[in-house]
Amino acid sequence: MVPRIQVYLVVIFIQVLVAAAWTNPSDFNAMQALRGEWKNTPPSWVGPDPCGMRWDGITCINYRIVSIMCASFGLSGQLPADIGSLSELQILSLNSNKFIGEIPSSIGTLPKLLWLDIGENRLTGRIPVSNESASGLDMLVQTNHFHFGNNQLSGEIPSQLFSTNMSLFHLLLENNLLNGSIPATLGLVQSLELVRLDRNSLSGPVPQNLSKLSNVQDLYLSNNNLGGPLPDLTGMMSLSYLDMSNNTFDTSDVPTWFSTLQSLTTLVMENTTLSGNVSDKLFSLPQLQTVRLRNNRLNGTLLNGTLNIGSSPSTELQLVDFQNNSIQFFTEKPGGYNFQIILVDDPYCQRSTSSYCILPLPANSSNSIPSNCSTPRCSEDQVPSPNCQCAYPYTGTLFFRAPSFSDLSNRSNYVSLQQSLMSSFKHLPVDSVSLSNPSKNLDEYLTLSLQVFPSGQDYFNWTGISAIAFVFSNQIFISPPSFGPYYFIANSYQNFPGTPSSSHKKSRVITGAKVCGSVLLFLSLAAGGHAFRQKGRAEIAASQIDPFASWDPSKNSGGIPQLGARNFSFEEVKKYTNNFSETNGIGSGGYGKVYRGTLPTGQLVAIKRAQQGSMQGALEFKNEIELLSRVHHKNIVGLVGFCLDQGEEMLVYEYIPNGTLKESLSGKSGIRLDWMRRLRIALGAARGIQYLHVLADPPIIHRDIKSNNVLLDERLNAKVGDFGLSKPMGSTYRTHVTTQVKGTMGYMDPEYYMTNQLTEKSDVYGFGVLMLEIVTAKAPIVKGKYIVREVKQAMDVTKDLYNLHQVIDPVIVSSASPRSLEKFLDLALRCTEEQGVSRPTMSEVVKEIESIMELAGLNPNAESASTSESYEGARKGYEHPYSDESLFIYSGAYTQFQVGA
Ligand SMILES: *[C@@H]1O[C@H](CO)[C@@H](O)[C@H](O)[C@H]1NC(C)=O
Ligand SMILES: *[C@@H]1O[C@H](CO)[C@@H](O)[C@H](O)[C@H]1NC(C)=O
Ligand SMILES: *[C@@H]1O[C@H](CO)[C@@H](O)[C@H](O)[C@H]1NC(C)=O
Ligand SMILES: *[C@@H]1O[C@H](CO)[C@@H](O)[C@H](O)[C@H]1NC(C)=O
Ligand SMILES: *[C@@H]1O[C@H](CO)[C@@H](O)[C@H](O)[C@H]1NC(C)=O
Ligand SMILES: *[C@@H]1O[C@H](CO)[C@@H](O)[C@H](O)[C@H]1NC(C)=O
Ligand SMILES: *[C@@H]1O[C@H](CO)[C@@H](O)[C@H](O)[C@H]1NC(C)=O
Ligand SMILES: *[C@@H]1O[C@H](CO)[C@@H](O)[C@H](O)[C@H]1NC(C)=O
Repeated sequence: MVPRIQVYLVVIFIQVLVAAAWTNPSDFNAMQALRGEWKNTPPSWVGPDPCGMRWDGITCINYRIVSIMCASFGLSGQLPADIGSLSELQILSLNSNKFIGEIPSSIGTLPKLLWLDIGENRLTGRIPVSNESASGLDMLVQTNHFHFGNNQLSGEIPSQLFSTNMSLFHLLLENNLLNGSIPATLGLVQSLELVRLDRNSLSGPVPQNLSKLSNVQDLYLSNNNLGGPLPDLTGMMSLSYLDMSNNTFDTSDVPTWFSTLQSLTTLVMENTTLSGNVSDKLFSLPQLQTVRLRNNRLNGTLLNGTLNIGSSPSTELQLVDFQNNSIQFFTEKPGGYNFQIILVDDPYCQRSTSSYCILPLPANSSNSIPSNCSTPRCSEDQVPSPNCQCAYPYTGTLFFRAPSFSDLSNRSNYVSLQQSLMSSFKHLPVDSVSLSNPSKNLDEYLTLSLQVFPSGQDYFNWTGISAIAFVFSNQIFISPPSFGPYYFIANSYQNFPGTPSSSHKKSRVITGAKVCGSVLLFLSLAAGGHAFRQKGRAEIAASQIDPFASWDPSKNSGGIPQLGARNFSFEEVKKYTNNFSETNGIGSGGYGKVYRGTLPTGQLVAIKRAQQGSMQGALEFKNEIELLSRVHHKNIVGLVGFCLDQGEEMLVYEYIPNGTLKESLSGKSGIRLDWMRRLRIALGAARGIQYLHVLADPPIIHRDIKSNNVLLDERLNAKVGDFGLSKPMGSTYRTHVTTQVKGTMGYMDPEYYMTNQLTEKSDVYGFGVLMLEIVTAKAPIVKGKYIVREVKQAMDVTKDLYNLHQVIDPVIVSSASPRSLEKFLDLALRCTEEQGVSRPTMSEVVKEIESIMELAGLNPNAESASTSESYEGARKGYEHPYSDESLFIYSGAYTQFQVGA
């Protein structure tokens, strides 16, 4: 089975290969202008057809350019106004180059732009906004990301830039030359989650209505000349990281909101003329890690100048820095504290020699995140991997522009990052990754050294390096939410094979900037079907991140969750499957193999057996057991039990005999689905999902709704299965789960991709795609054409069958009433609205499908018609539904197909 990431790449590749048509002429003219203006363009940027000839960094859909991703390509020159004529552009990512000149106001005319990253360049001039003669960036009301940091932009931040209509998540303007005051209109952009205005020359008071930005998690206003009173930030309920240091605010007492922001991890208010008392409640905020208040006039927590941390400081607390304040006395807790307190240069330290009066050594900058392996001896120029293999790693630096935690030394912060890196490298020849040297650079970016280790051999070949670089340069790698936006600068790799083994060095050099030249090769290899298939080894040392480590019954039976499902021994399962005999095999996939088994009671079961020695999918495995054993519904695949024995991981499900909806729609299973049956299946699947959203406790988001995960029982009732990616809504105070983006291409909610925030509406989107599949009997993506987009483009509600005769499956046209088909299409399109809020809930979907069925003369509550006579055809090459194709981290490159839908 071909891993899906390859399938995806094949899709692009085929799309490009079959390009009989040429790049849209207007797009080509614009690209030609860019190519003419820019220096150091990739060698592949030749010829008259950027889409057809696969210019590196350029992605097209239907011969229209939808993304330009050329971060760290070493480009220089100006940004020509011609960019504004790329009217289908969704992603413009030009950060970390050497561009000069002004931001062209024509970017404001790009109606579909979602991602605008021009940070880390040398751009100058003002931020353009609309006037009578030209439109500016204020028109970009659909854009989610403005990343302009680390340039030389000047002038005021135009107040016209912001409006209530905007959908910005990230506003990054740090380290420019901006002056004037912060416009009050910023407070109108309710969607904002991250605001960096630090390291400019902003002056004047902070507008009070910034406090209305209740979704902002990181706010950086430091190192400006901001004055006036300290703003009241009580309303910024999500605030996690706040830095207002080095401003010239009016002298003021500590505001009360300091101690009411429940999400606060980091409070940095150095040198802000604060005086008086801090409430000791501050220190007991549950998430608090760091309090840096040096160079103020604070006199502790009590009127007589005493600092008292309180009896129950946050267990997360790492640092309380009151250097150079007015603290006279310090009430120490008997036994001391397990975090650092700094009182150097306070009156207290004139009389005391306690350890609080000695400046701690600066954090060791070579502080590496330890691995569990005792370092093996490696030859001089090799490096030990976390799995203790000596090798030549691919190295570079990750820059995170606004991490929302401040405790850089806490290893647990990096575990999730390591995991998501490994997931992004899932199908590449990567053995492990190691992160080290966490530190903050002068821009307050978190920098991390990254080493990526090869699997199978001690070096990467050119293809391997290209593929890894591709992951970063195309934002396929999605960092965990607390890390925020990132970029990656690679070191040159000098250890390619074919050079004398005594010195692998200085043979051929690839730099991060040349990444683009390699994408082509990777694509063609993938299309050839022999790209990387290494699995199993592609894990970080299991002991480091293995979610099962504490869950092995032989080691620690207490770790096993108490479940309703049965715990089978290996011997039992072996017996039920006739020693896992080939004849009982009913499928296989990235996860492992699936066997049919018979319990002593005669019940048929399907047993999903993880590949031996492979921890791949371990997290999914545990997830699935815990979730499935809590849900019981006739439209959900039931879990009978599991087996965690002798190093095996198996799931035992009820046996669903008639395969997946996908197989039936594609004709593979030989089951003919007329309109009536399709409606019934749609209703069943919708009810299953509705159950998960509404009735399960806690509610569950499936995250991977697709036709492959809808199974059909002997009466063709739909059953939703495969919970490997599902998430409970949890007890968090939010209505969404912030999570690493996962799922299957074609079904992925564009909003989820852009925000990382998972809601029930993401399942609604997937279900909408599934509905379109039901009507068209086509996969969501065929030859680079995305079903949602195709249907939306072709649809004309004034015409018969909405003008969709071309796409509707001919099999159903005869059996469906046109009105019911139209209503079904209406509903599908509403489910695939770009914005989650515009989509119906699953309960609404269920109601509407019921009414469509009534319209078609069916009783939505009747049992399905009976079985065998209605089937036809042979089962050729038929694989069982449980052949779970390996899931993959959602590829950023793929977004382009999604987000524009
Ligand atoms: C309008 O804006 C454009 C681009 O920012 C600028 O070049 C032009 O001078 C402005 N025109 C007026 C009348 O301000
Ligand atoms: C913003 O929305 C308002 C009302 O919804 C509309 O009048 C205005 O033109 C919109 N502004 C922009 C820039 O789209
Ligand atoms: C405040 O300014 C000083 C002096 O420029 C600098 O050393 C310090 O890092 C700044 N503090 C913060 C939190 O940015
Ligand atoms: C305090 O902040 C001001 C700017 O507000 C800056 O000029 C000064 O260097 C800072 N002092 C220290 C000690 O950080
Ligand atoms: C501490 O600050 C408060 C508020 O500014 C003030 O009333 C009090 O007198 C100060 N205490 C000392 C000992 O300076
Ligand atoms: C400061 O005041 C608190 C109570 O208000 C008292 O318990 C403490 O002893 C005082 N400390 C000194 C040094 O006077
Ligand atoms: C590069 O390495 C991968 C896996 O490590 C291997 O499959 C592939 O054949 C190699 N390619 C070349 C050209 O040697
Ligand atoms: C569907 O399931 C029924 C009951 O097991 C069986 O008789 C029928 O042959 C199956 N159809 C297909 C196409 O597998």
